Amino acid sequence: MKKLSELQDRQIHSLDDVKRGLSSLLNSVKARIEMEKGFGVDAFLATRQNKAVNPALNSPEKHILTETSIATASPGGQTPLNKEQIQLLENLKNEAAGCQKCSLSKTRTNLVFGVGNHKAELMFVGEAPGRDEDLQGEPFVGRAGQLLTKIIEAIGMKRTDVYIANVLKCRPPGNRSPLPDEIALCTSYLTKQIDIIKPKVLCALGTFAAQTLLNTKAPVGTLRGRFHEYQGIPMMVTYHPAYLLRNPNDKVKVWEDIKKVRDFLAGTLPVATTTQPG
Ligand code: URA
Repeated sequence: MKKLSELQDRQIHSLDDVKRGLSSLLNSVKARIEMEKGFGVDAFLATRQNKAVNPALNSPEKHILTETSIATASPGGQTPLNKEQIQLLENLKNEAAGCQKCSLSKTRTNLVFGVGNHKAELMFVGEAPGRDEDLQGEPFVGRAGQLLTKIIEAIGMKRTDVYIANVLKCRPPGNRSPLPDEIALCTSYLTKQIDIIKPKVLCALGTFAAQTLLNTKAPVGTLRGRFHEYQGIPMMVTYHPAYLLRNPNDKVKVWEDIKKVRDFLAGTLPVATTTQPG
């Protein structure tokens, strides 16, 4: 008798395990479909089609915000413009334009200061300008930038709603990784930008942004997916769009991360920040 009830118990447990397994599988499939709809396959198809039809169309000009749009854009057209913030950003940009603290100022074509809404609730921080950004003087305008735009749109926002900046304001030659000295000399521009914009939430894209703002050497793989805190501001860490172009399977993880940012901004996700970056 005892044996029979043990057997039944075990069967019930394994049925529960199967249910749990199925439910987690369903959740993963749902996340995958949502992500593919948001910035998955389409992002790549769009890039490829644009290239095939007309290379000029592949130019990300449509995403570029000019200084005028910085001054005139306001989310939902409702937030009053803050002239003082605009002026502070302009002064900081001029200071960065004259900066010669490291050798990158000699090799760059243009300063890539930052772009977007000076009253943004969400601010993205990337690594450093690449070739396209260096040529156009705007962050995230190349292929990785197009994917970032898709990610922003996938959470129901526009590029004009957010602010986008990098750790480094000048392109490292040949797109090499930023050097520790360059980061140390350049970071104050970024921290001042954050201080002026005062976003409700930050999103660090990739290793360099995350490690710089959290002052840690922990790998992005262990930092991503949860809110940390930078100077009292909740900060999500996620993979860099350029990494996603090489590792499209990880786009699902970025979708999970960015949904948390969306839900936090919508007030439906209370943030338990993690100050321990490890
Ligand atoms: N990668 C970045 O980190 N920043 C850019 O502006 C473009 C590509």
